[in-house]
Amino acid sequence: MSTKVAEIFETMAYGPAPEQSDYVQEWLDGHPDGFDLFIGGKWVAPEDKKKTIESRDPATGKPLARFSIAGKADVDKAVEAAQKGFAKWSRLSGHQRARHLYALARLIQKNSRFLSVLESMDNGKPIRETRDLDIPLASRHFYHHAGWAQLMDSELAGYEPLGVVGQVIPWNFPLLMMAWKIAPAIAAGNCVVLKPAEYTSLTALYFAEMCREAGLPDGVVNIITGAGDTGEMLVRHEAVTKIAFTGSTDVGRLIRKATAGTGKKLTLELGGKSPFLVFDDADLDSTVEGLVDAIWFNQGQVCCAGSRLLVEEGVADRLIEKVKHRLNHFRLGSPLDKAVDMGAIVDPVQRDRIDSLVNQSVTEGAVKWQPDVSCPTEGCYYLPTLLTDVSPANVAAREEIFGPVLTVTTFRTLAEATELANNSRYGLSASVWSENINRALEIAGMVKAGVVWINCTNQFDAACGFGGYRESGFGREGGREGMFEYLKRSDEWRKSGSDIIDKAKLPEISTKHVDVIDRTPKNYIGGKQKRPDGGNSLAVAGHDGKFVGRVGDGNRKDIRDAVEAAFKAEGWSKATAHNRAQILYYIAENLSIREEEFARRLSLLTGASAKAAKAEVDASIARLFSYGAWADKFDGLVHTPPMRNIALAMNEPLGVMGVVCPDTAPLLSFISLIAPHLAMGNRSVVIPSQRYPLIATDFYQVLETSDVPGGAINIVTGDREGLAKVLAQHDQLDGIWYFGSAEGSEMVERLSADNLKRTWVNNGKARDWASSNQGEGRQFLREATQVKNVWLPYGD
Ligand code: NAI
Repeated sequence: MSTKVAEIFETMAYGPAPEQSDYVQEWLDGHPDGFDLFIGGKWVAPEDKKKTIESRDPATGKPLARFSIAGKADVDKAVEAAQKGFAKWSRLSGHQRARHLYALARLIQKNSRFLSVLESMDNGKPIRETRDLDIPLASRHFYHHAGWAQLMDSELAGYEPLGVVGQVIPWNFPLLMMAWKIAPAIAAGNCVVLKPAEYTSLTALYFAEMCREAGLPDGVVNIITGAGDTGEMLVRHEAVTKIAFTGSTDVGRLIRKATAGTGKKLTLELGGKSPFLVFDDADLDSTVEGLVDAIWFNQGQVCCAGSRLLVEEGVADRLIEKVKHRLNHFRLGSPLDKAVDMGAIVDPVQRDRIDSLVNQSVTEGAVKWQPDVSCPTEGCYYLPTLLTDVSPANVAAREEIFGPVLTVTTFRTLAEATELANNSRYGLSASVWSENINRALEIAGMVKAGVVWINCTNQFDAACGFGGYRESGFGREGGREGMFEYLKRSDEWRKSGSDIIDKAKLPEISTKHVDVIDRTPKNYIGGKQKRPDGGNSLAVAGHDGKFVGRVGDGNRKDIRDAVEAAFKAEGWSKATAHNRAQILYYIAENLSIREEEFARRLSLLTGASAKAAKAEVDASIARLFSYGAWADKFDGLVHTPPMRNIALAMNEPLGVMGVVCPDTAPLLSFISLIAPHLAMGNRSVVIPSQRYPLIATDFYQVLETSDVPGGAINIVTGDREGLAKVLAQHDQLDGIWYFGSAEGSEMVERLSADNLKRTWVNNGKARDWASSNQGEGRQFLREATQVKNVWLPYGD
């Protein structure tokens, strides 16, 4: 059917604008027997050649290629190749590694057209997105991290690579996620084994060919294909020192459990249910385009998609009308068409999942609206969908749908908007739309999210860390903070020894001279001394085994009360850094007034000489001063990404923390663990040394005289492992620091998987608490905070 030019002027309809794909098809056709695994710089046939996975084009349902499923022997082979590669790669100079990363960045640029087409064919996303976002950002990641390799010796001095890193990625941004994972890992000197997602492995396989072309040394990058089983084998492999995972929260939880107690470092970038907040003074036309980018970009299959529209009541109808108008002009079609708004959903399984969640939401009372636009009948498409009348309990308001579905809820006040925004177990991102910059920045500080976009959405850059709060995971990718995820301090732990006193070695307590008056110190909760719930107490021995006193035997209820008190002490997290510093100095001052008393007590409890005990008290006072000093100095950064944006990287407190203390240097280790939390604005529940709890209970009086607000620090004495278990299971807690046994570390990490709290454990290792390297500093501050990146556009 021919169309006249005059008619086109009349209708202004788009014609098809397909991107050429024959050269990509040729490459695929060149692999009639499917793809092998990329191990040690070579293509290696899997042990079981018969088992394969078929990749299909979501837009047509037609097969594209077959690839291997790596089994146990193949995973072993890949890890071995990475170990071999590591021996050489980690010894190259930063500059030499930088040159390799630079070569990869250049090759991605040179192959950008090919990669864009292949990605769109494999994933179903519009070529406009792969061409303008996925591929340029992937290349930018290698450029940026070439820079970190170059600067490592000076900027990350004292840090070293981890070894073999296992990386498992999802299907929504296949090449981009691969770049986010591989670039920082190899820049830091690690070697990687990466498993792409089973729906979308093709660009990773093409990248493997590029690694050969770039002359990357063998074993630095290994790519093994397969499904969840292969991923699990990689996660569990003993020689892997770190796992970096992006994907669903459920699998993230499994990985947290599988790696518990192994000492493997872990970063999890998981799901989201991100709010998109619109205030009545927002520029509504820009907001509509923002919404299109937030939820219909990549068919809504984006972890940080703005899937919950929260709009101020006064402008809700007008905004919805504009959104509907925009959607009624939406174009769904071939991902290779340069003029479509939306392509295909990655797989029929995902489309069915989206449909079933939408249907459930409607059953629960939501009203569904879809535009009257043409939708291809062949292939895996789903119309953009609006759900209104969505109650906070509706499944669509709670669950990650991972599809082109937007829920709409209205609000009246700023307080209500924040409450709705934070009413989610996730905390990945938020987008705020208002012409009032003061209000937008105020909201940015109040929402619990790792990234906040003001009057913009879905902005990413290699220099700006990305990652979530709460069940959206932990760890950051990108920027300096992303580099730390792939490094360790060479001198973080003592070479040997333990920080706890083995129960079997505890002296028998002689109760011959028991004091008849019960002066059992209580717990310290909400700024008050509180009798333990169970009414039981434990006898405490001095260094010579003689009875020196009793402490409360805290239980589950005491921990619950302490967490509640910490939760209510939210004001501490909002106090100014100057105010927190003052209080830390005041605690130090009050401790120094009682220096002799504390030194005597330490000698009595630990047997330390008078000189050593005085030195420990002095070091504790100095440490309090250190964190008083840090309180207003561990501040953020301003990033300048290539777009017309600045990103404010702000260190925020984690919230409510559990702190489990060791036995060695009982006063100094206790202070070293509570002071960074006070400095950064966390509220904590502390379990002091089980062997020497009296030193912590003596400390109540110091706290009481130092203006520490009630609930900022809470102390519960008793059985370390039992109380740590309750803390790890508590789902109001945001994180735990545990310094005890190897078994306790495993338990804390495993039980923390349920609400994905951040953990920092010692795996049974010891620290030299007196040293400034191991006992204090930036590592403690980083573990006490999370980075929030607030993006601000500028210019009209
Ligand atoms: P998934 O989390 O199962 O898969 C992601 C990656 O993990 C894939 O490479 C997969 O092979 C691997 N994997 C699966 N089980 C594993 C295990 N036990 N150990 C190690 N690796 C394992 O995600 P899936 O099934 O592809 O999608 C299901 C839902 O998850 C989506 O509908 C969406 O809601 C969510 N999702 C979220 C993503 C995000 O970026 N937040 C990305 C992908 C999915």
